[in-house]
Amino acid sequence: MKPGRLALLLALPLGIALAAAAGARADEAAIPGVHDAYQARTDYQLKCQGCHRPDASGDDHSNPPMRGIVARFLSVPGGREFIGRVPGVATVDLPDDRLANLVNWTIYRFDRAHVPPGFKPYTAEEIGRLRQNPLRLERAGMRARLVAAFAKTNND
Ligand code: HEC
Repeated sequence: MKPGRLALLLALPLGIALAAAAGARADEAAIPGVHDAYQARTDYQLKCQGCHRPDASGDDHSNPPMRGIVARFLSVPGGREFIGRVPGVATVDLPDDRLANLVNWTIYRFDRAHVPPGFKPYTAEEIGRLRQNPLRLERAGMRARLVAAFAKTNND
């Protein structure tokens, strides 16, 4: 094979990969409340996916799925606050602005379809306030009540 041709063959997949990466970035650039999607993705990988899994599918025993469901909390009373107060969110070692960036990214990345109309993204101030009161043992009961209330919304 001529060297020029080989170079072309090698360059092609690289070009496709670069184009795909740029496409993913363009998608994520449009997420409300997310000023740095790359940072959010990295923070998710480092701080969240160990429990929630890379695709946010969770597991069957202790760690809930977020894919296709997490934004439903935003449509029930108390759900918005709950998200900012669960220990995995509230106690993570990230500053408020990076955490707001990450929570907004998580909601849109894994459950855009359930984001209620008019949802205002979390701000660093709001996250900073909510995380001062991390939920403790009461969280299982609170979560069960919120999930039961999903059925009363028309946000399926
Ligand atoms: C040690 C495991 C663990 C880690 C790490 C973790 N979570 Fe969670 N997360 C949970 C569990 C368990 C729940 C259910 C509520 C509870 O018991 O805390 C939960 C609940 C949530 C909820 C509320 C939705 C629901 O279904 O209850 C959100 C949102 C969330 N986590 C986001 C995150 C984000 C974002 C991170 C990374 C910053 C993270 N979690 C890190 C285990 C974890």
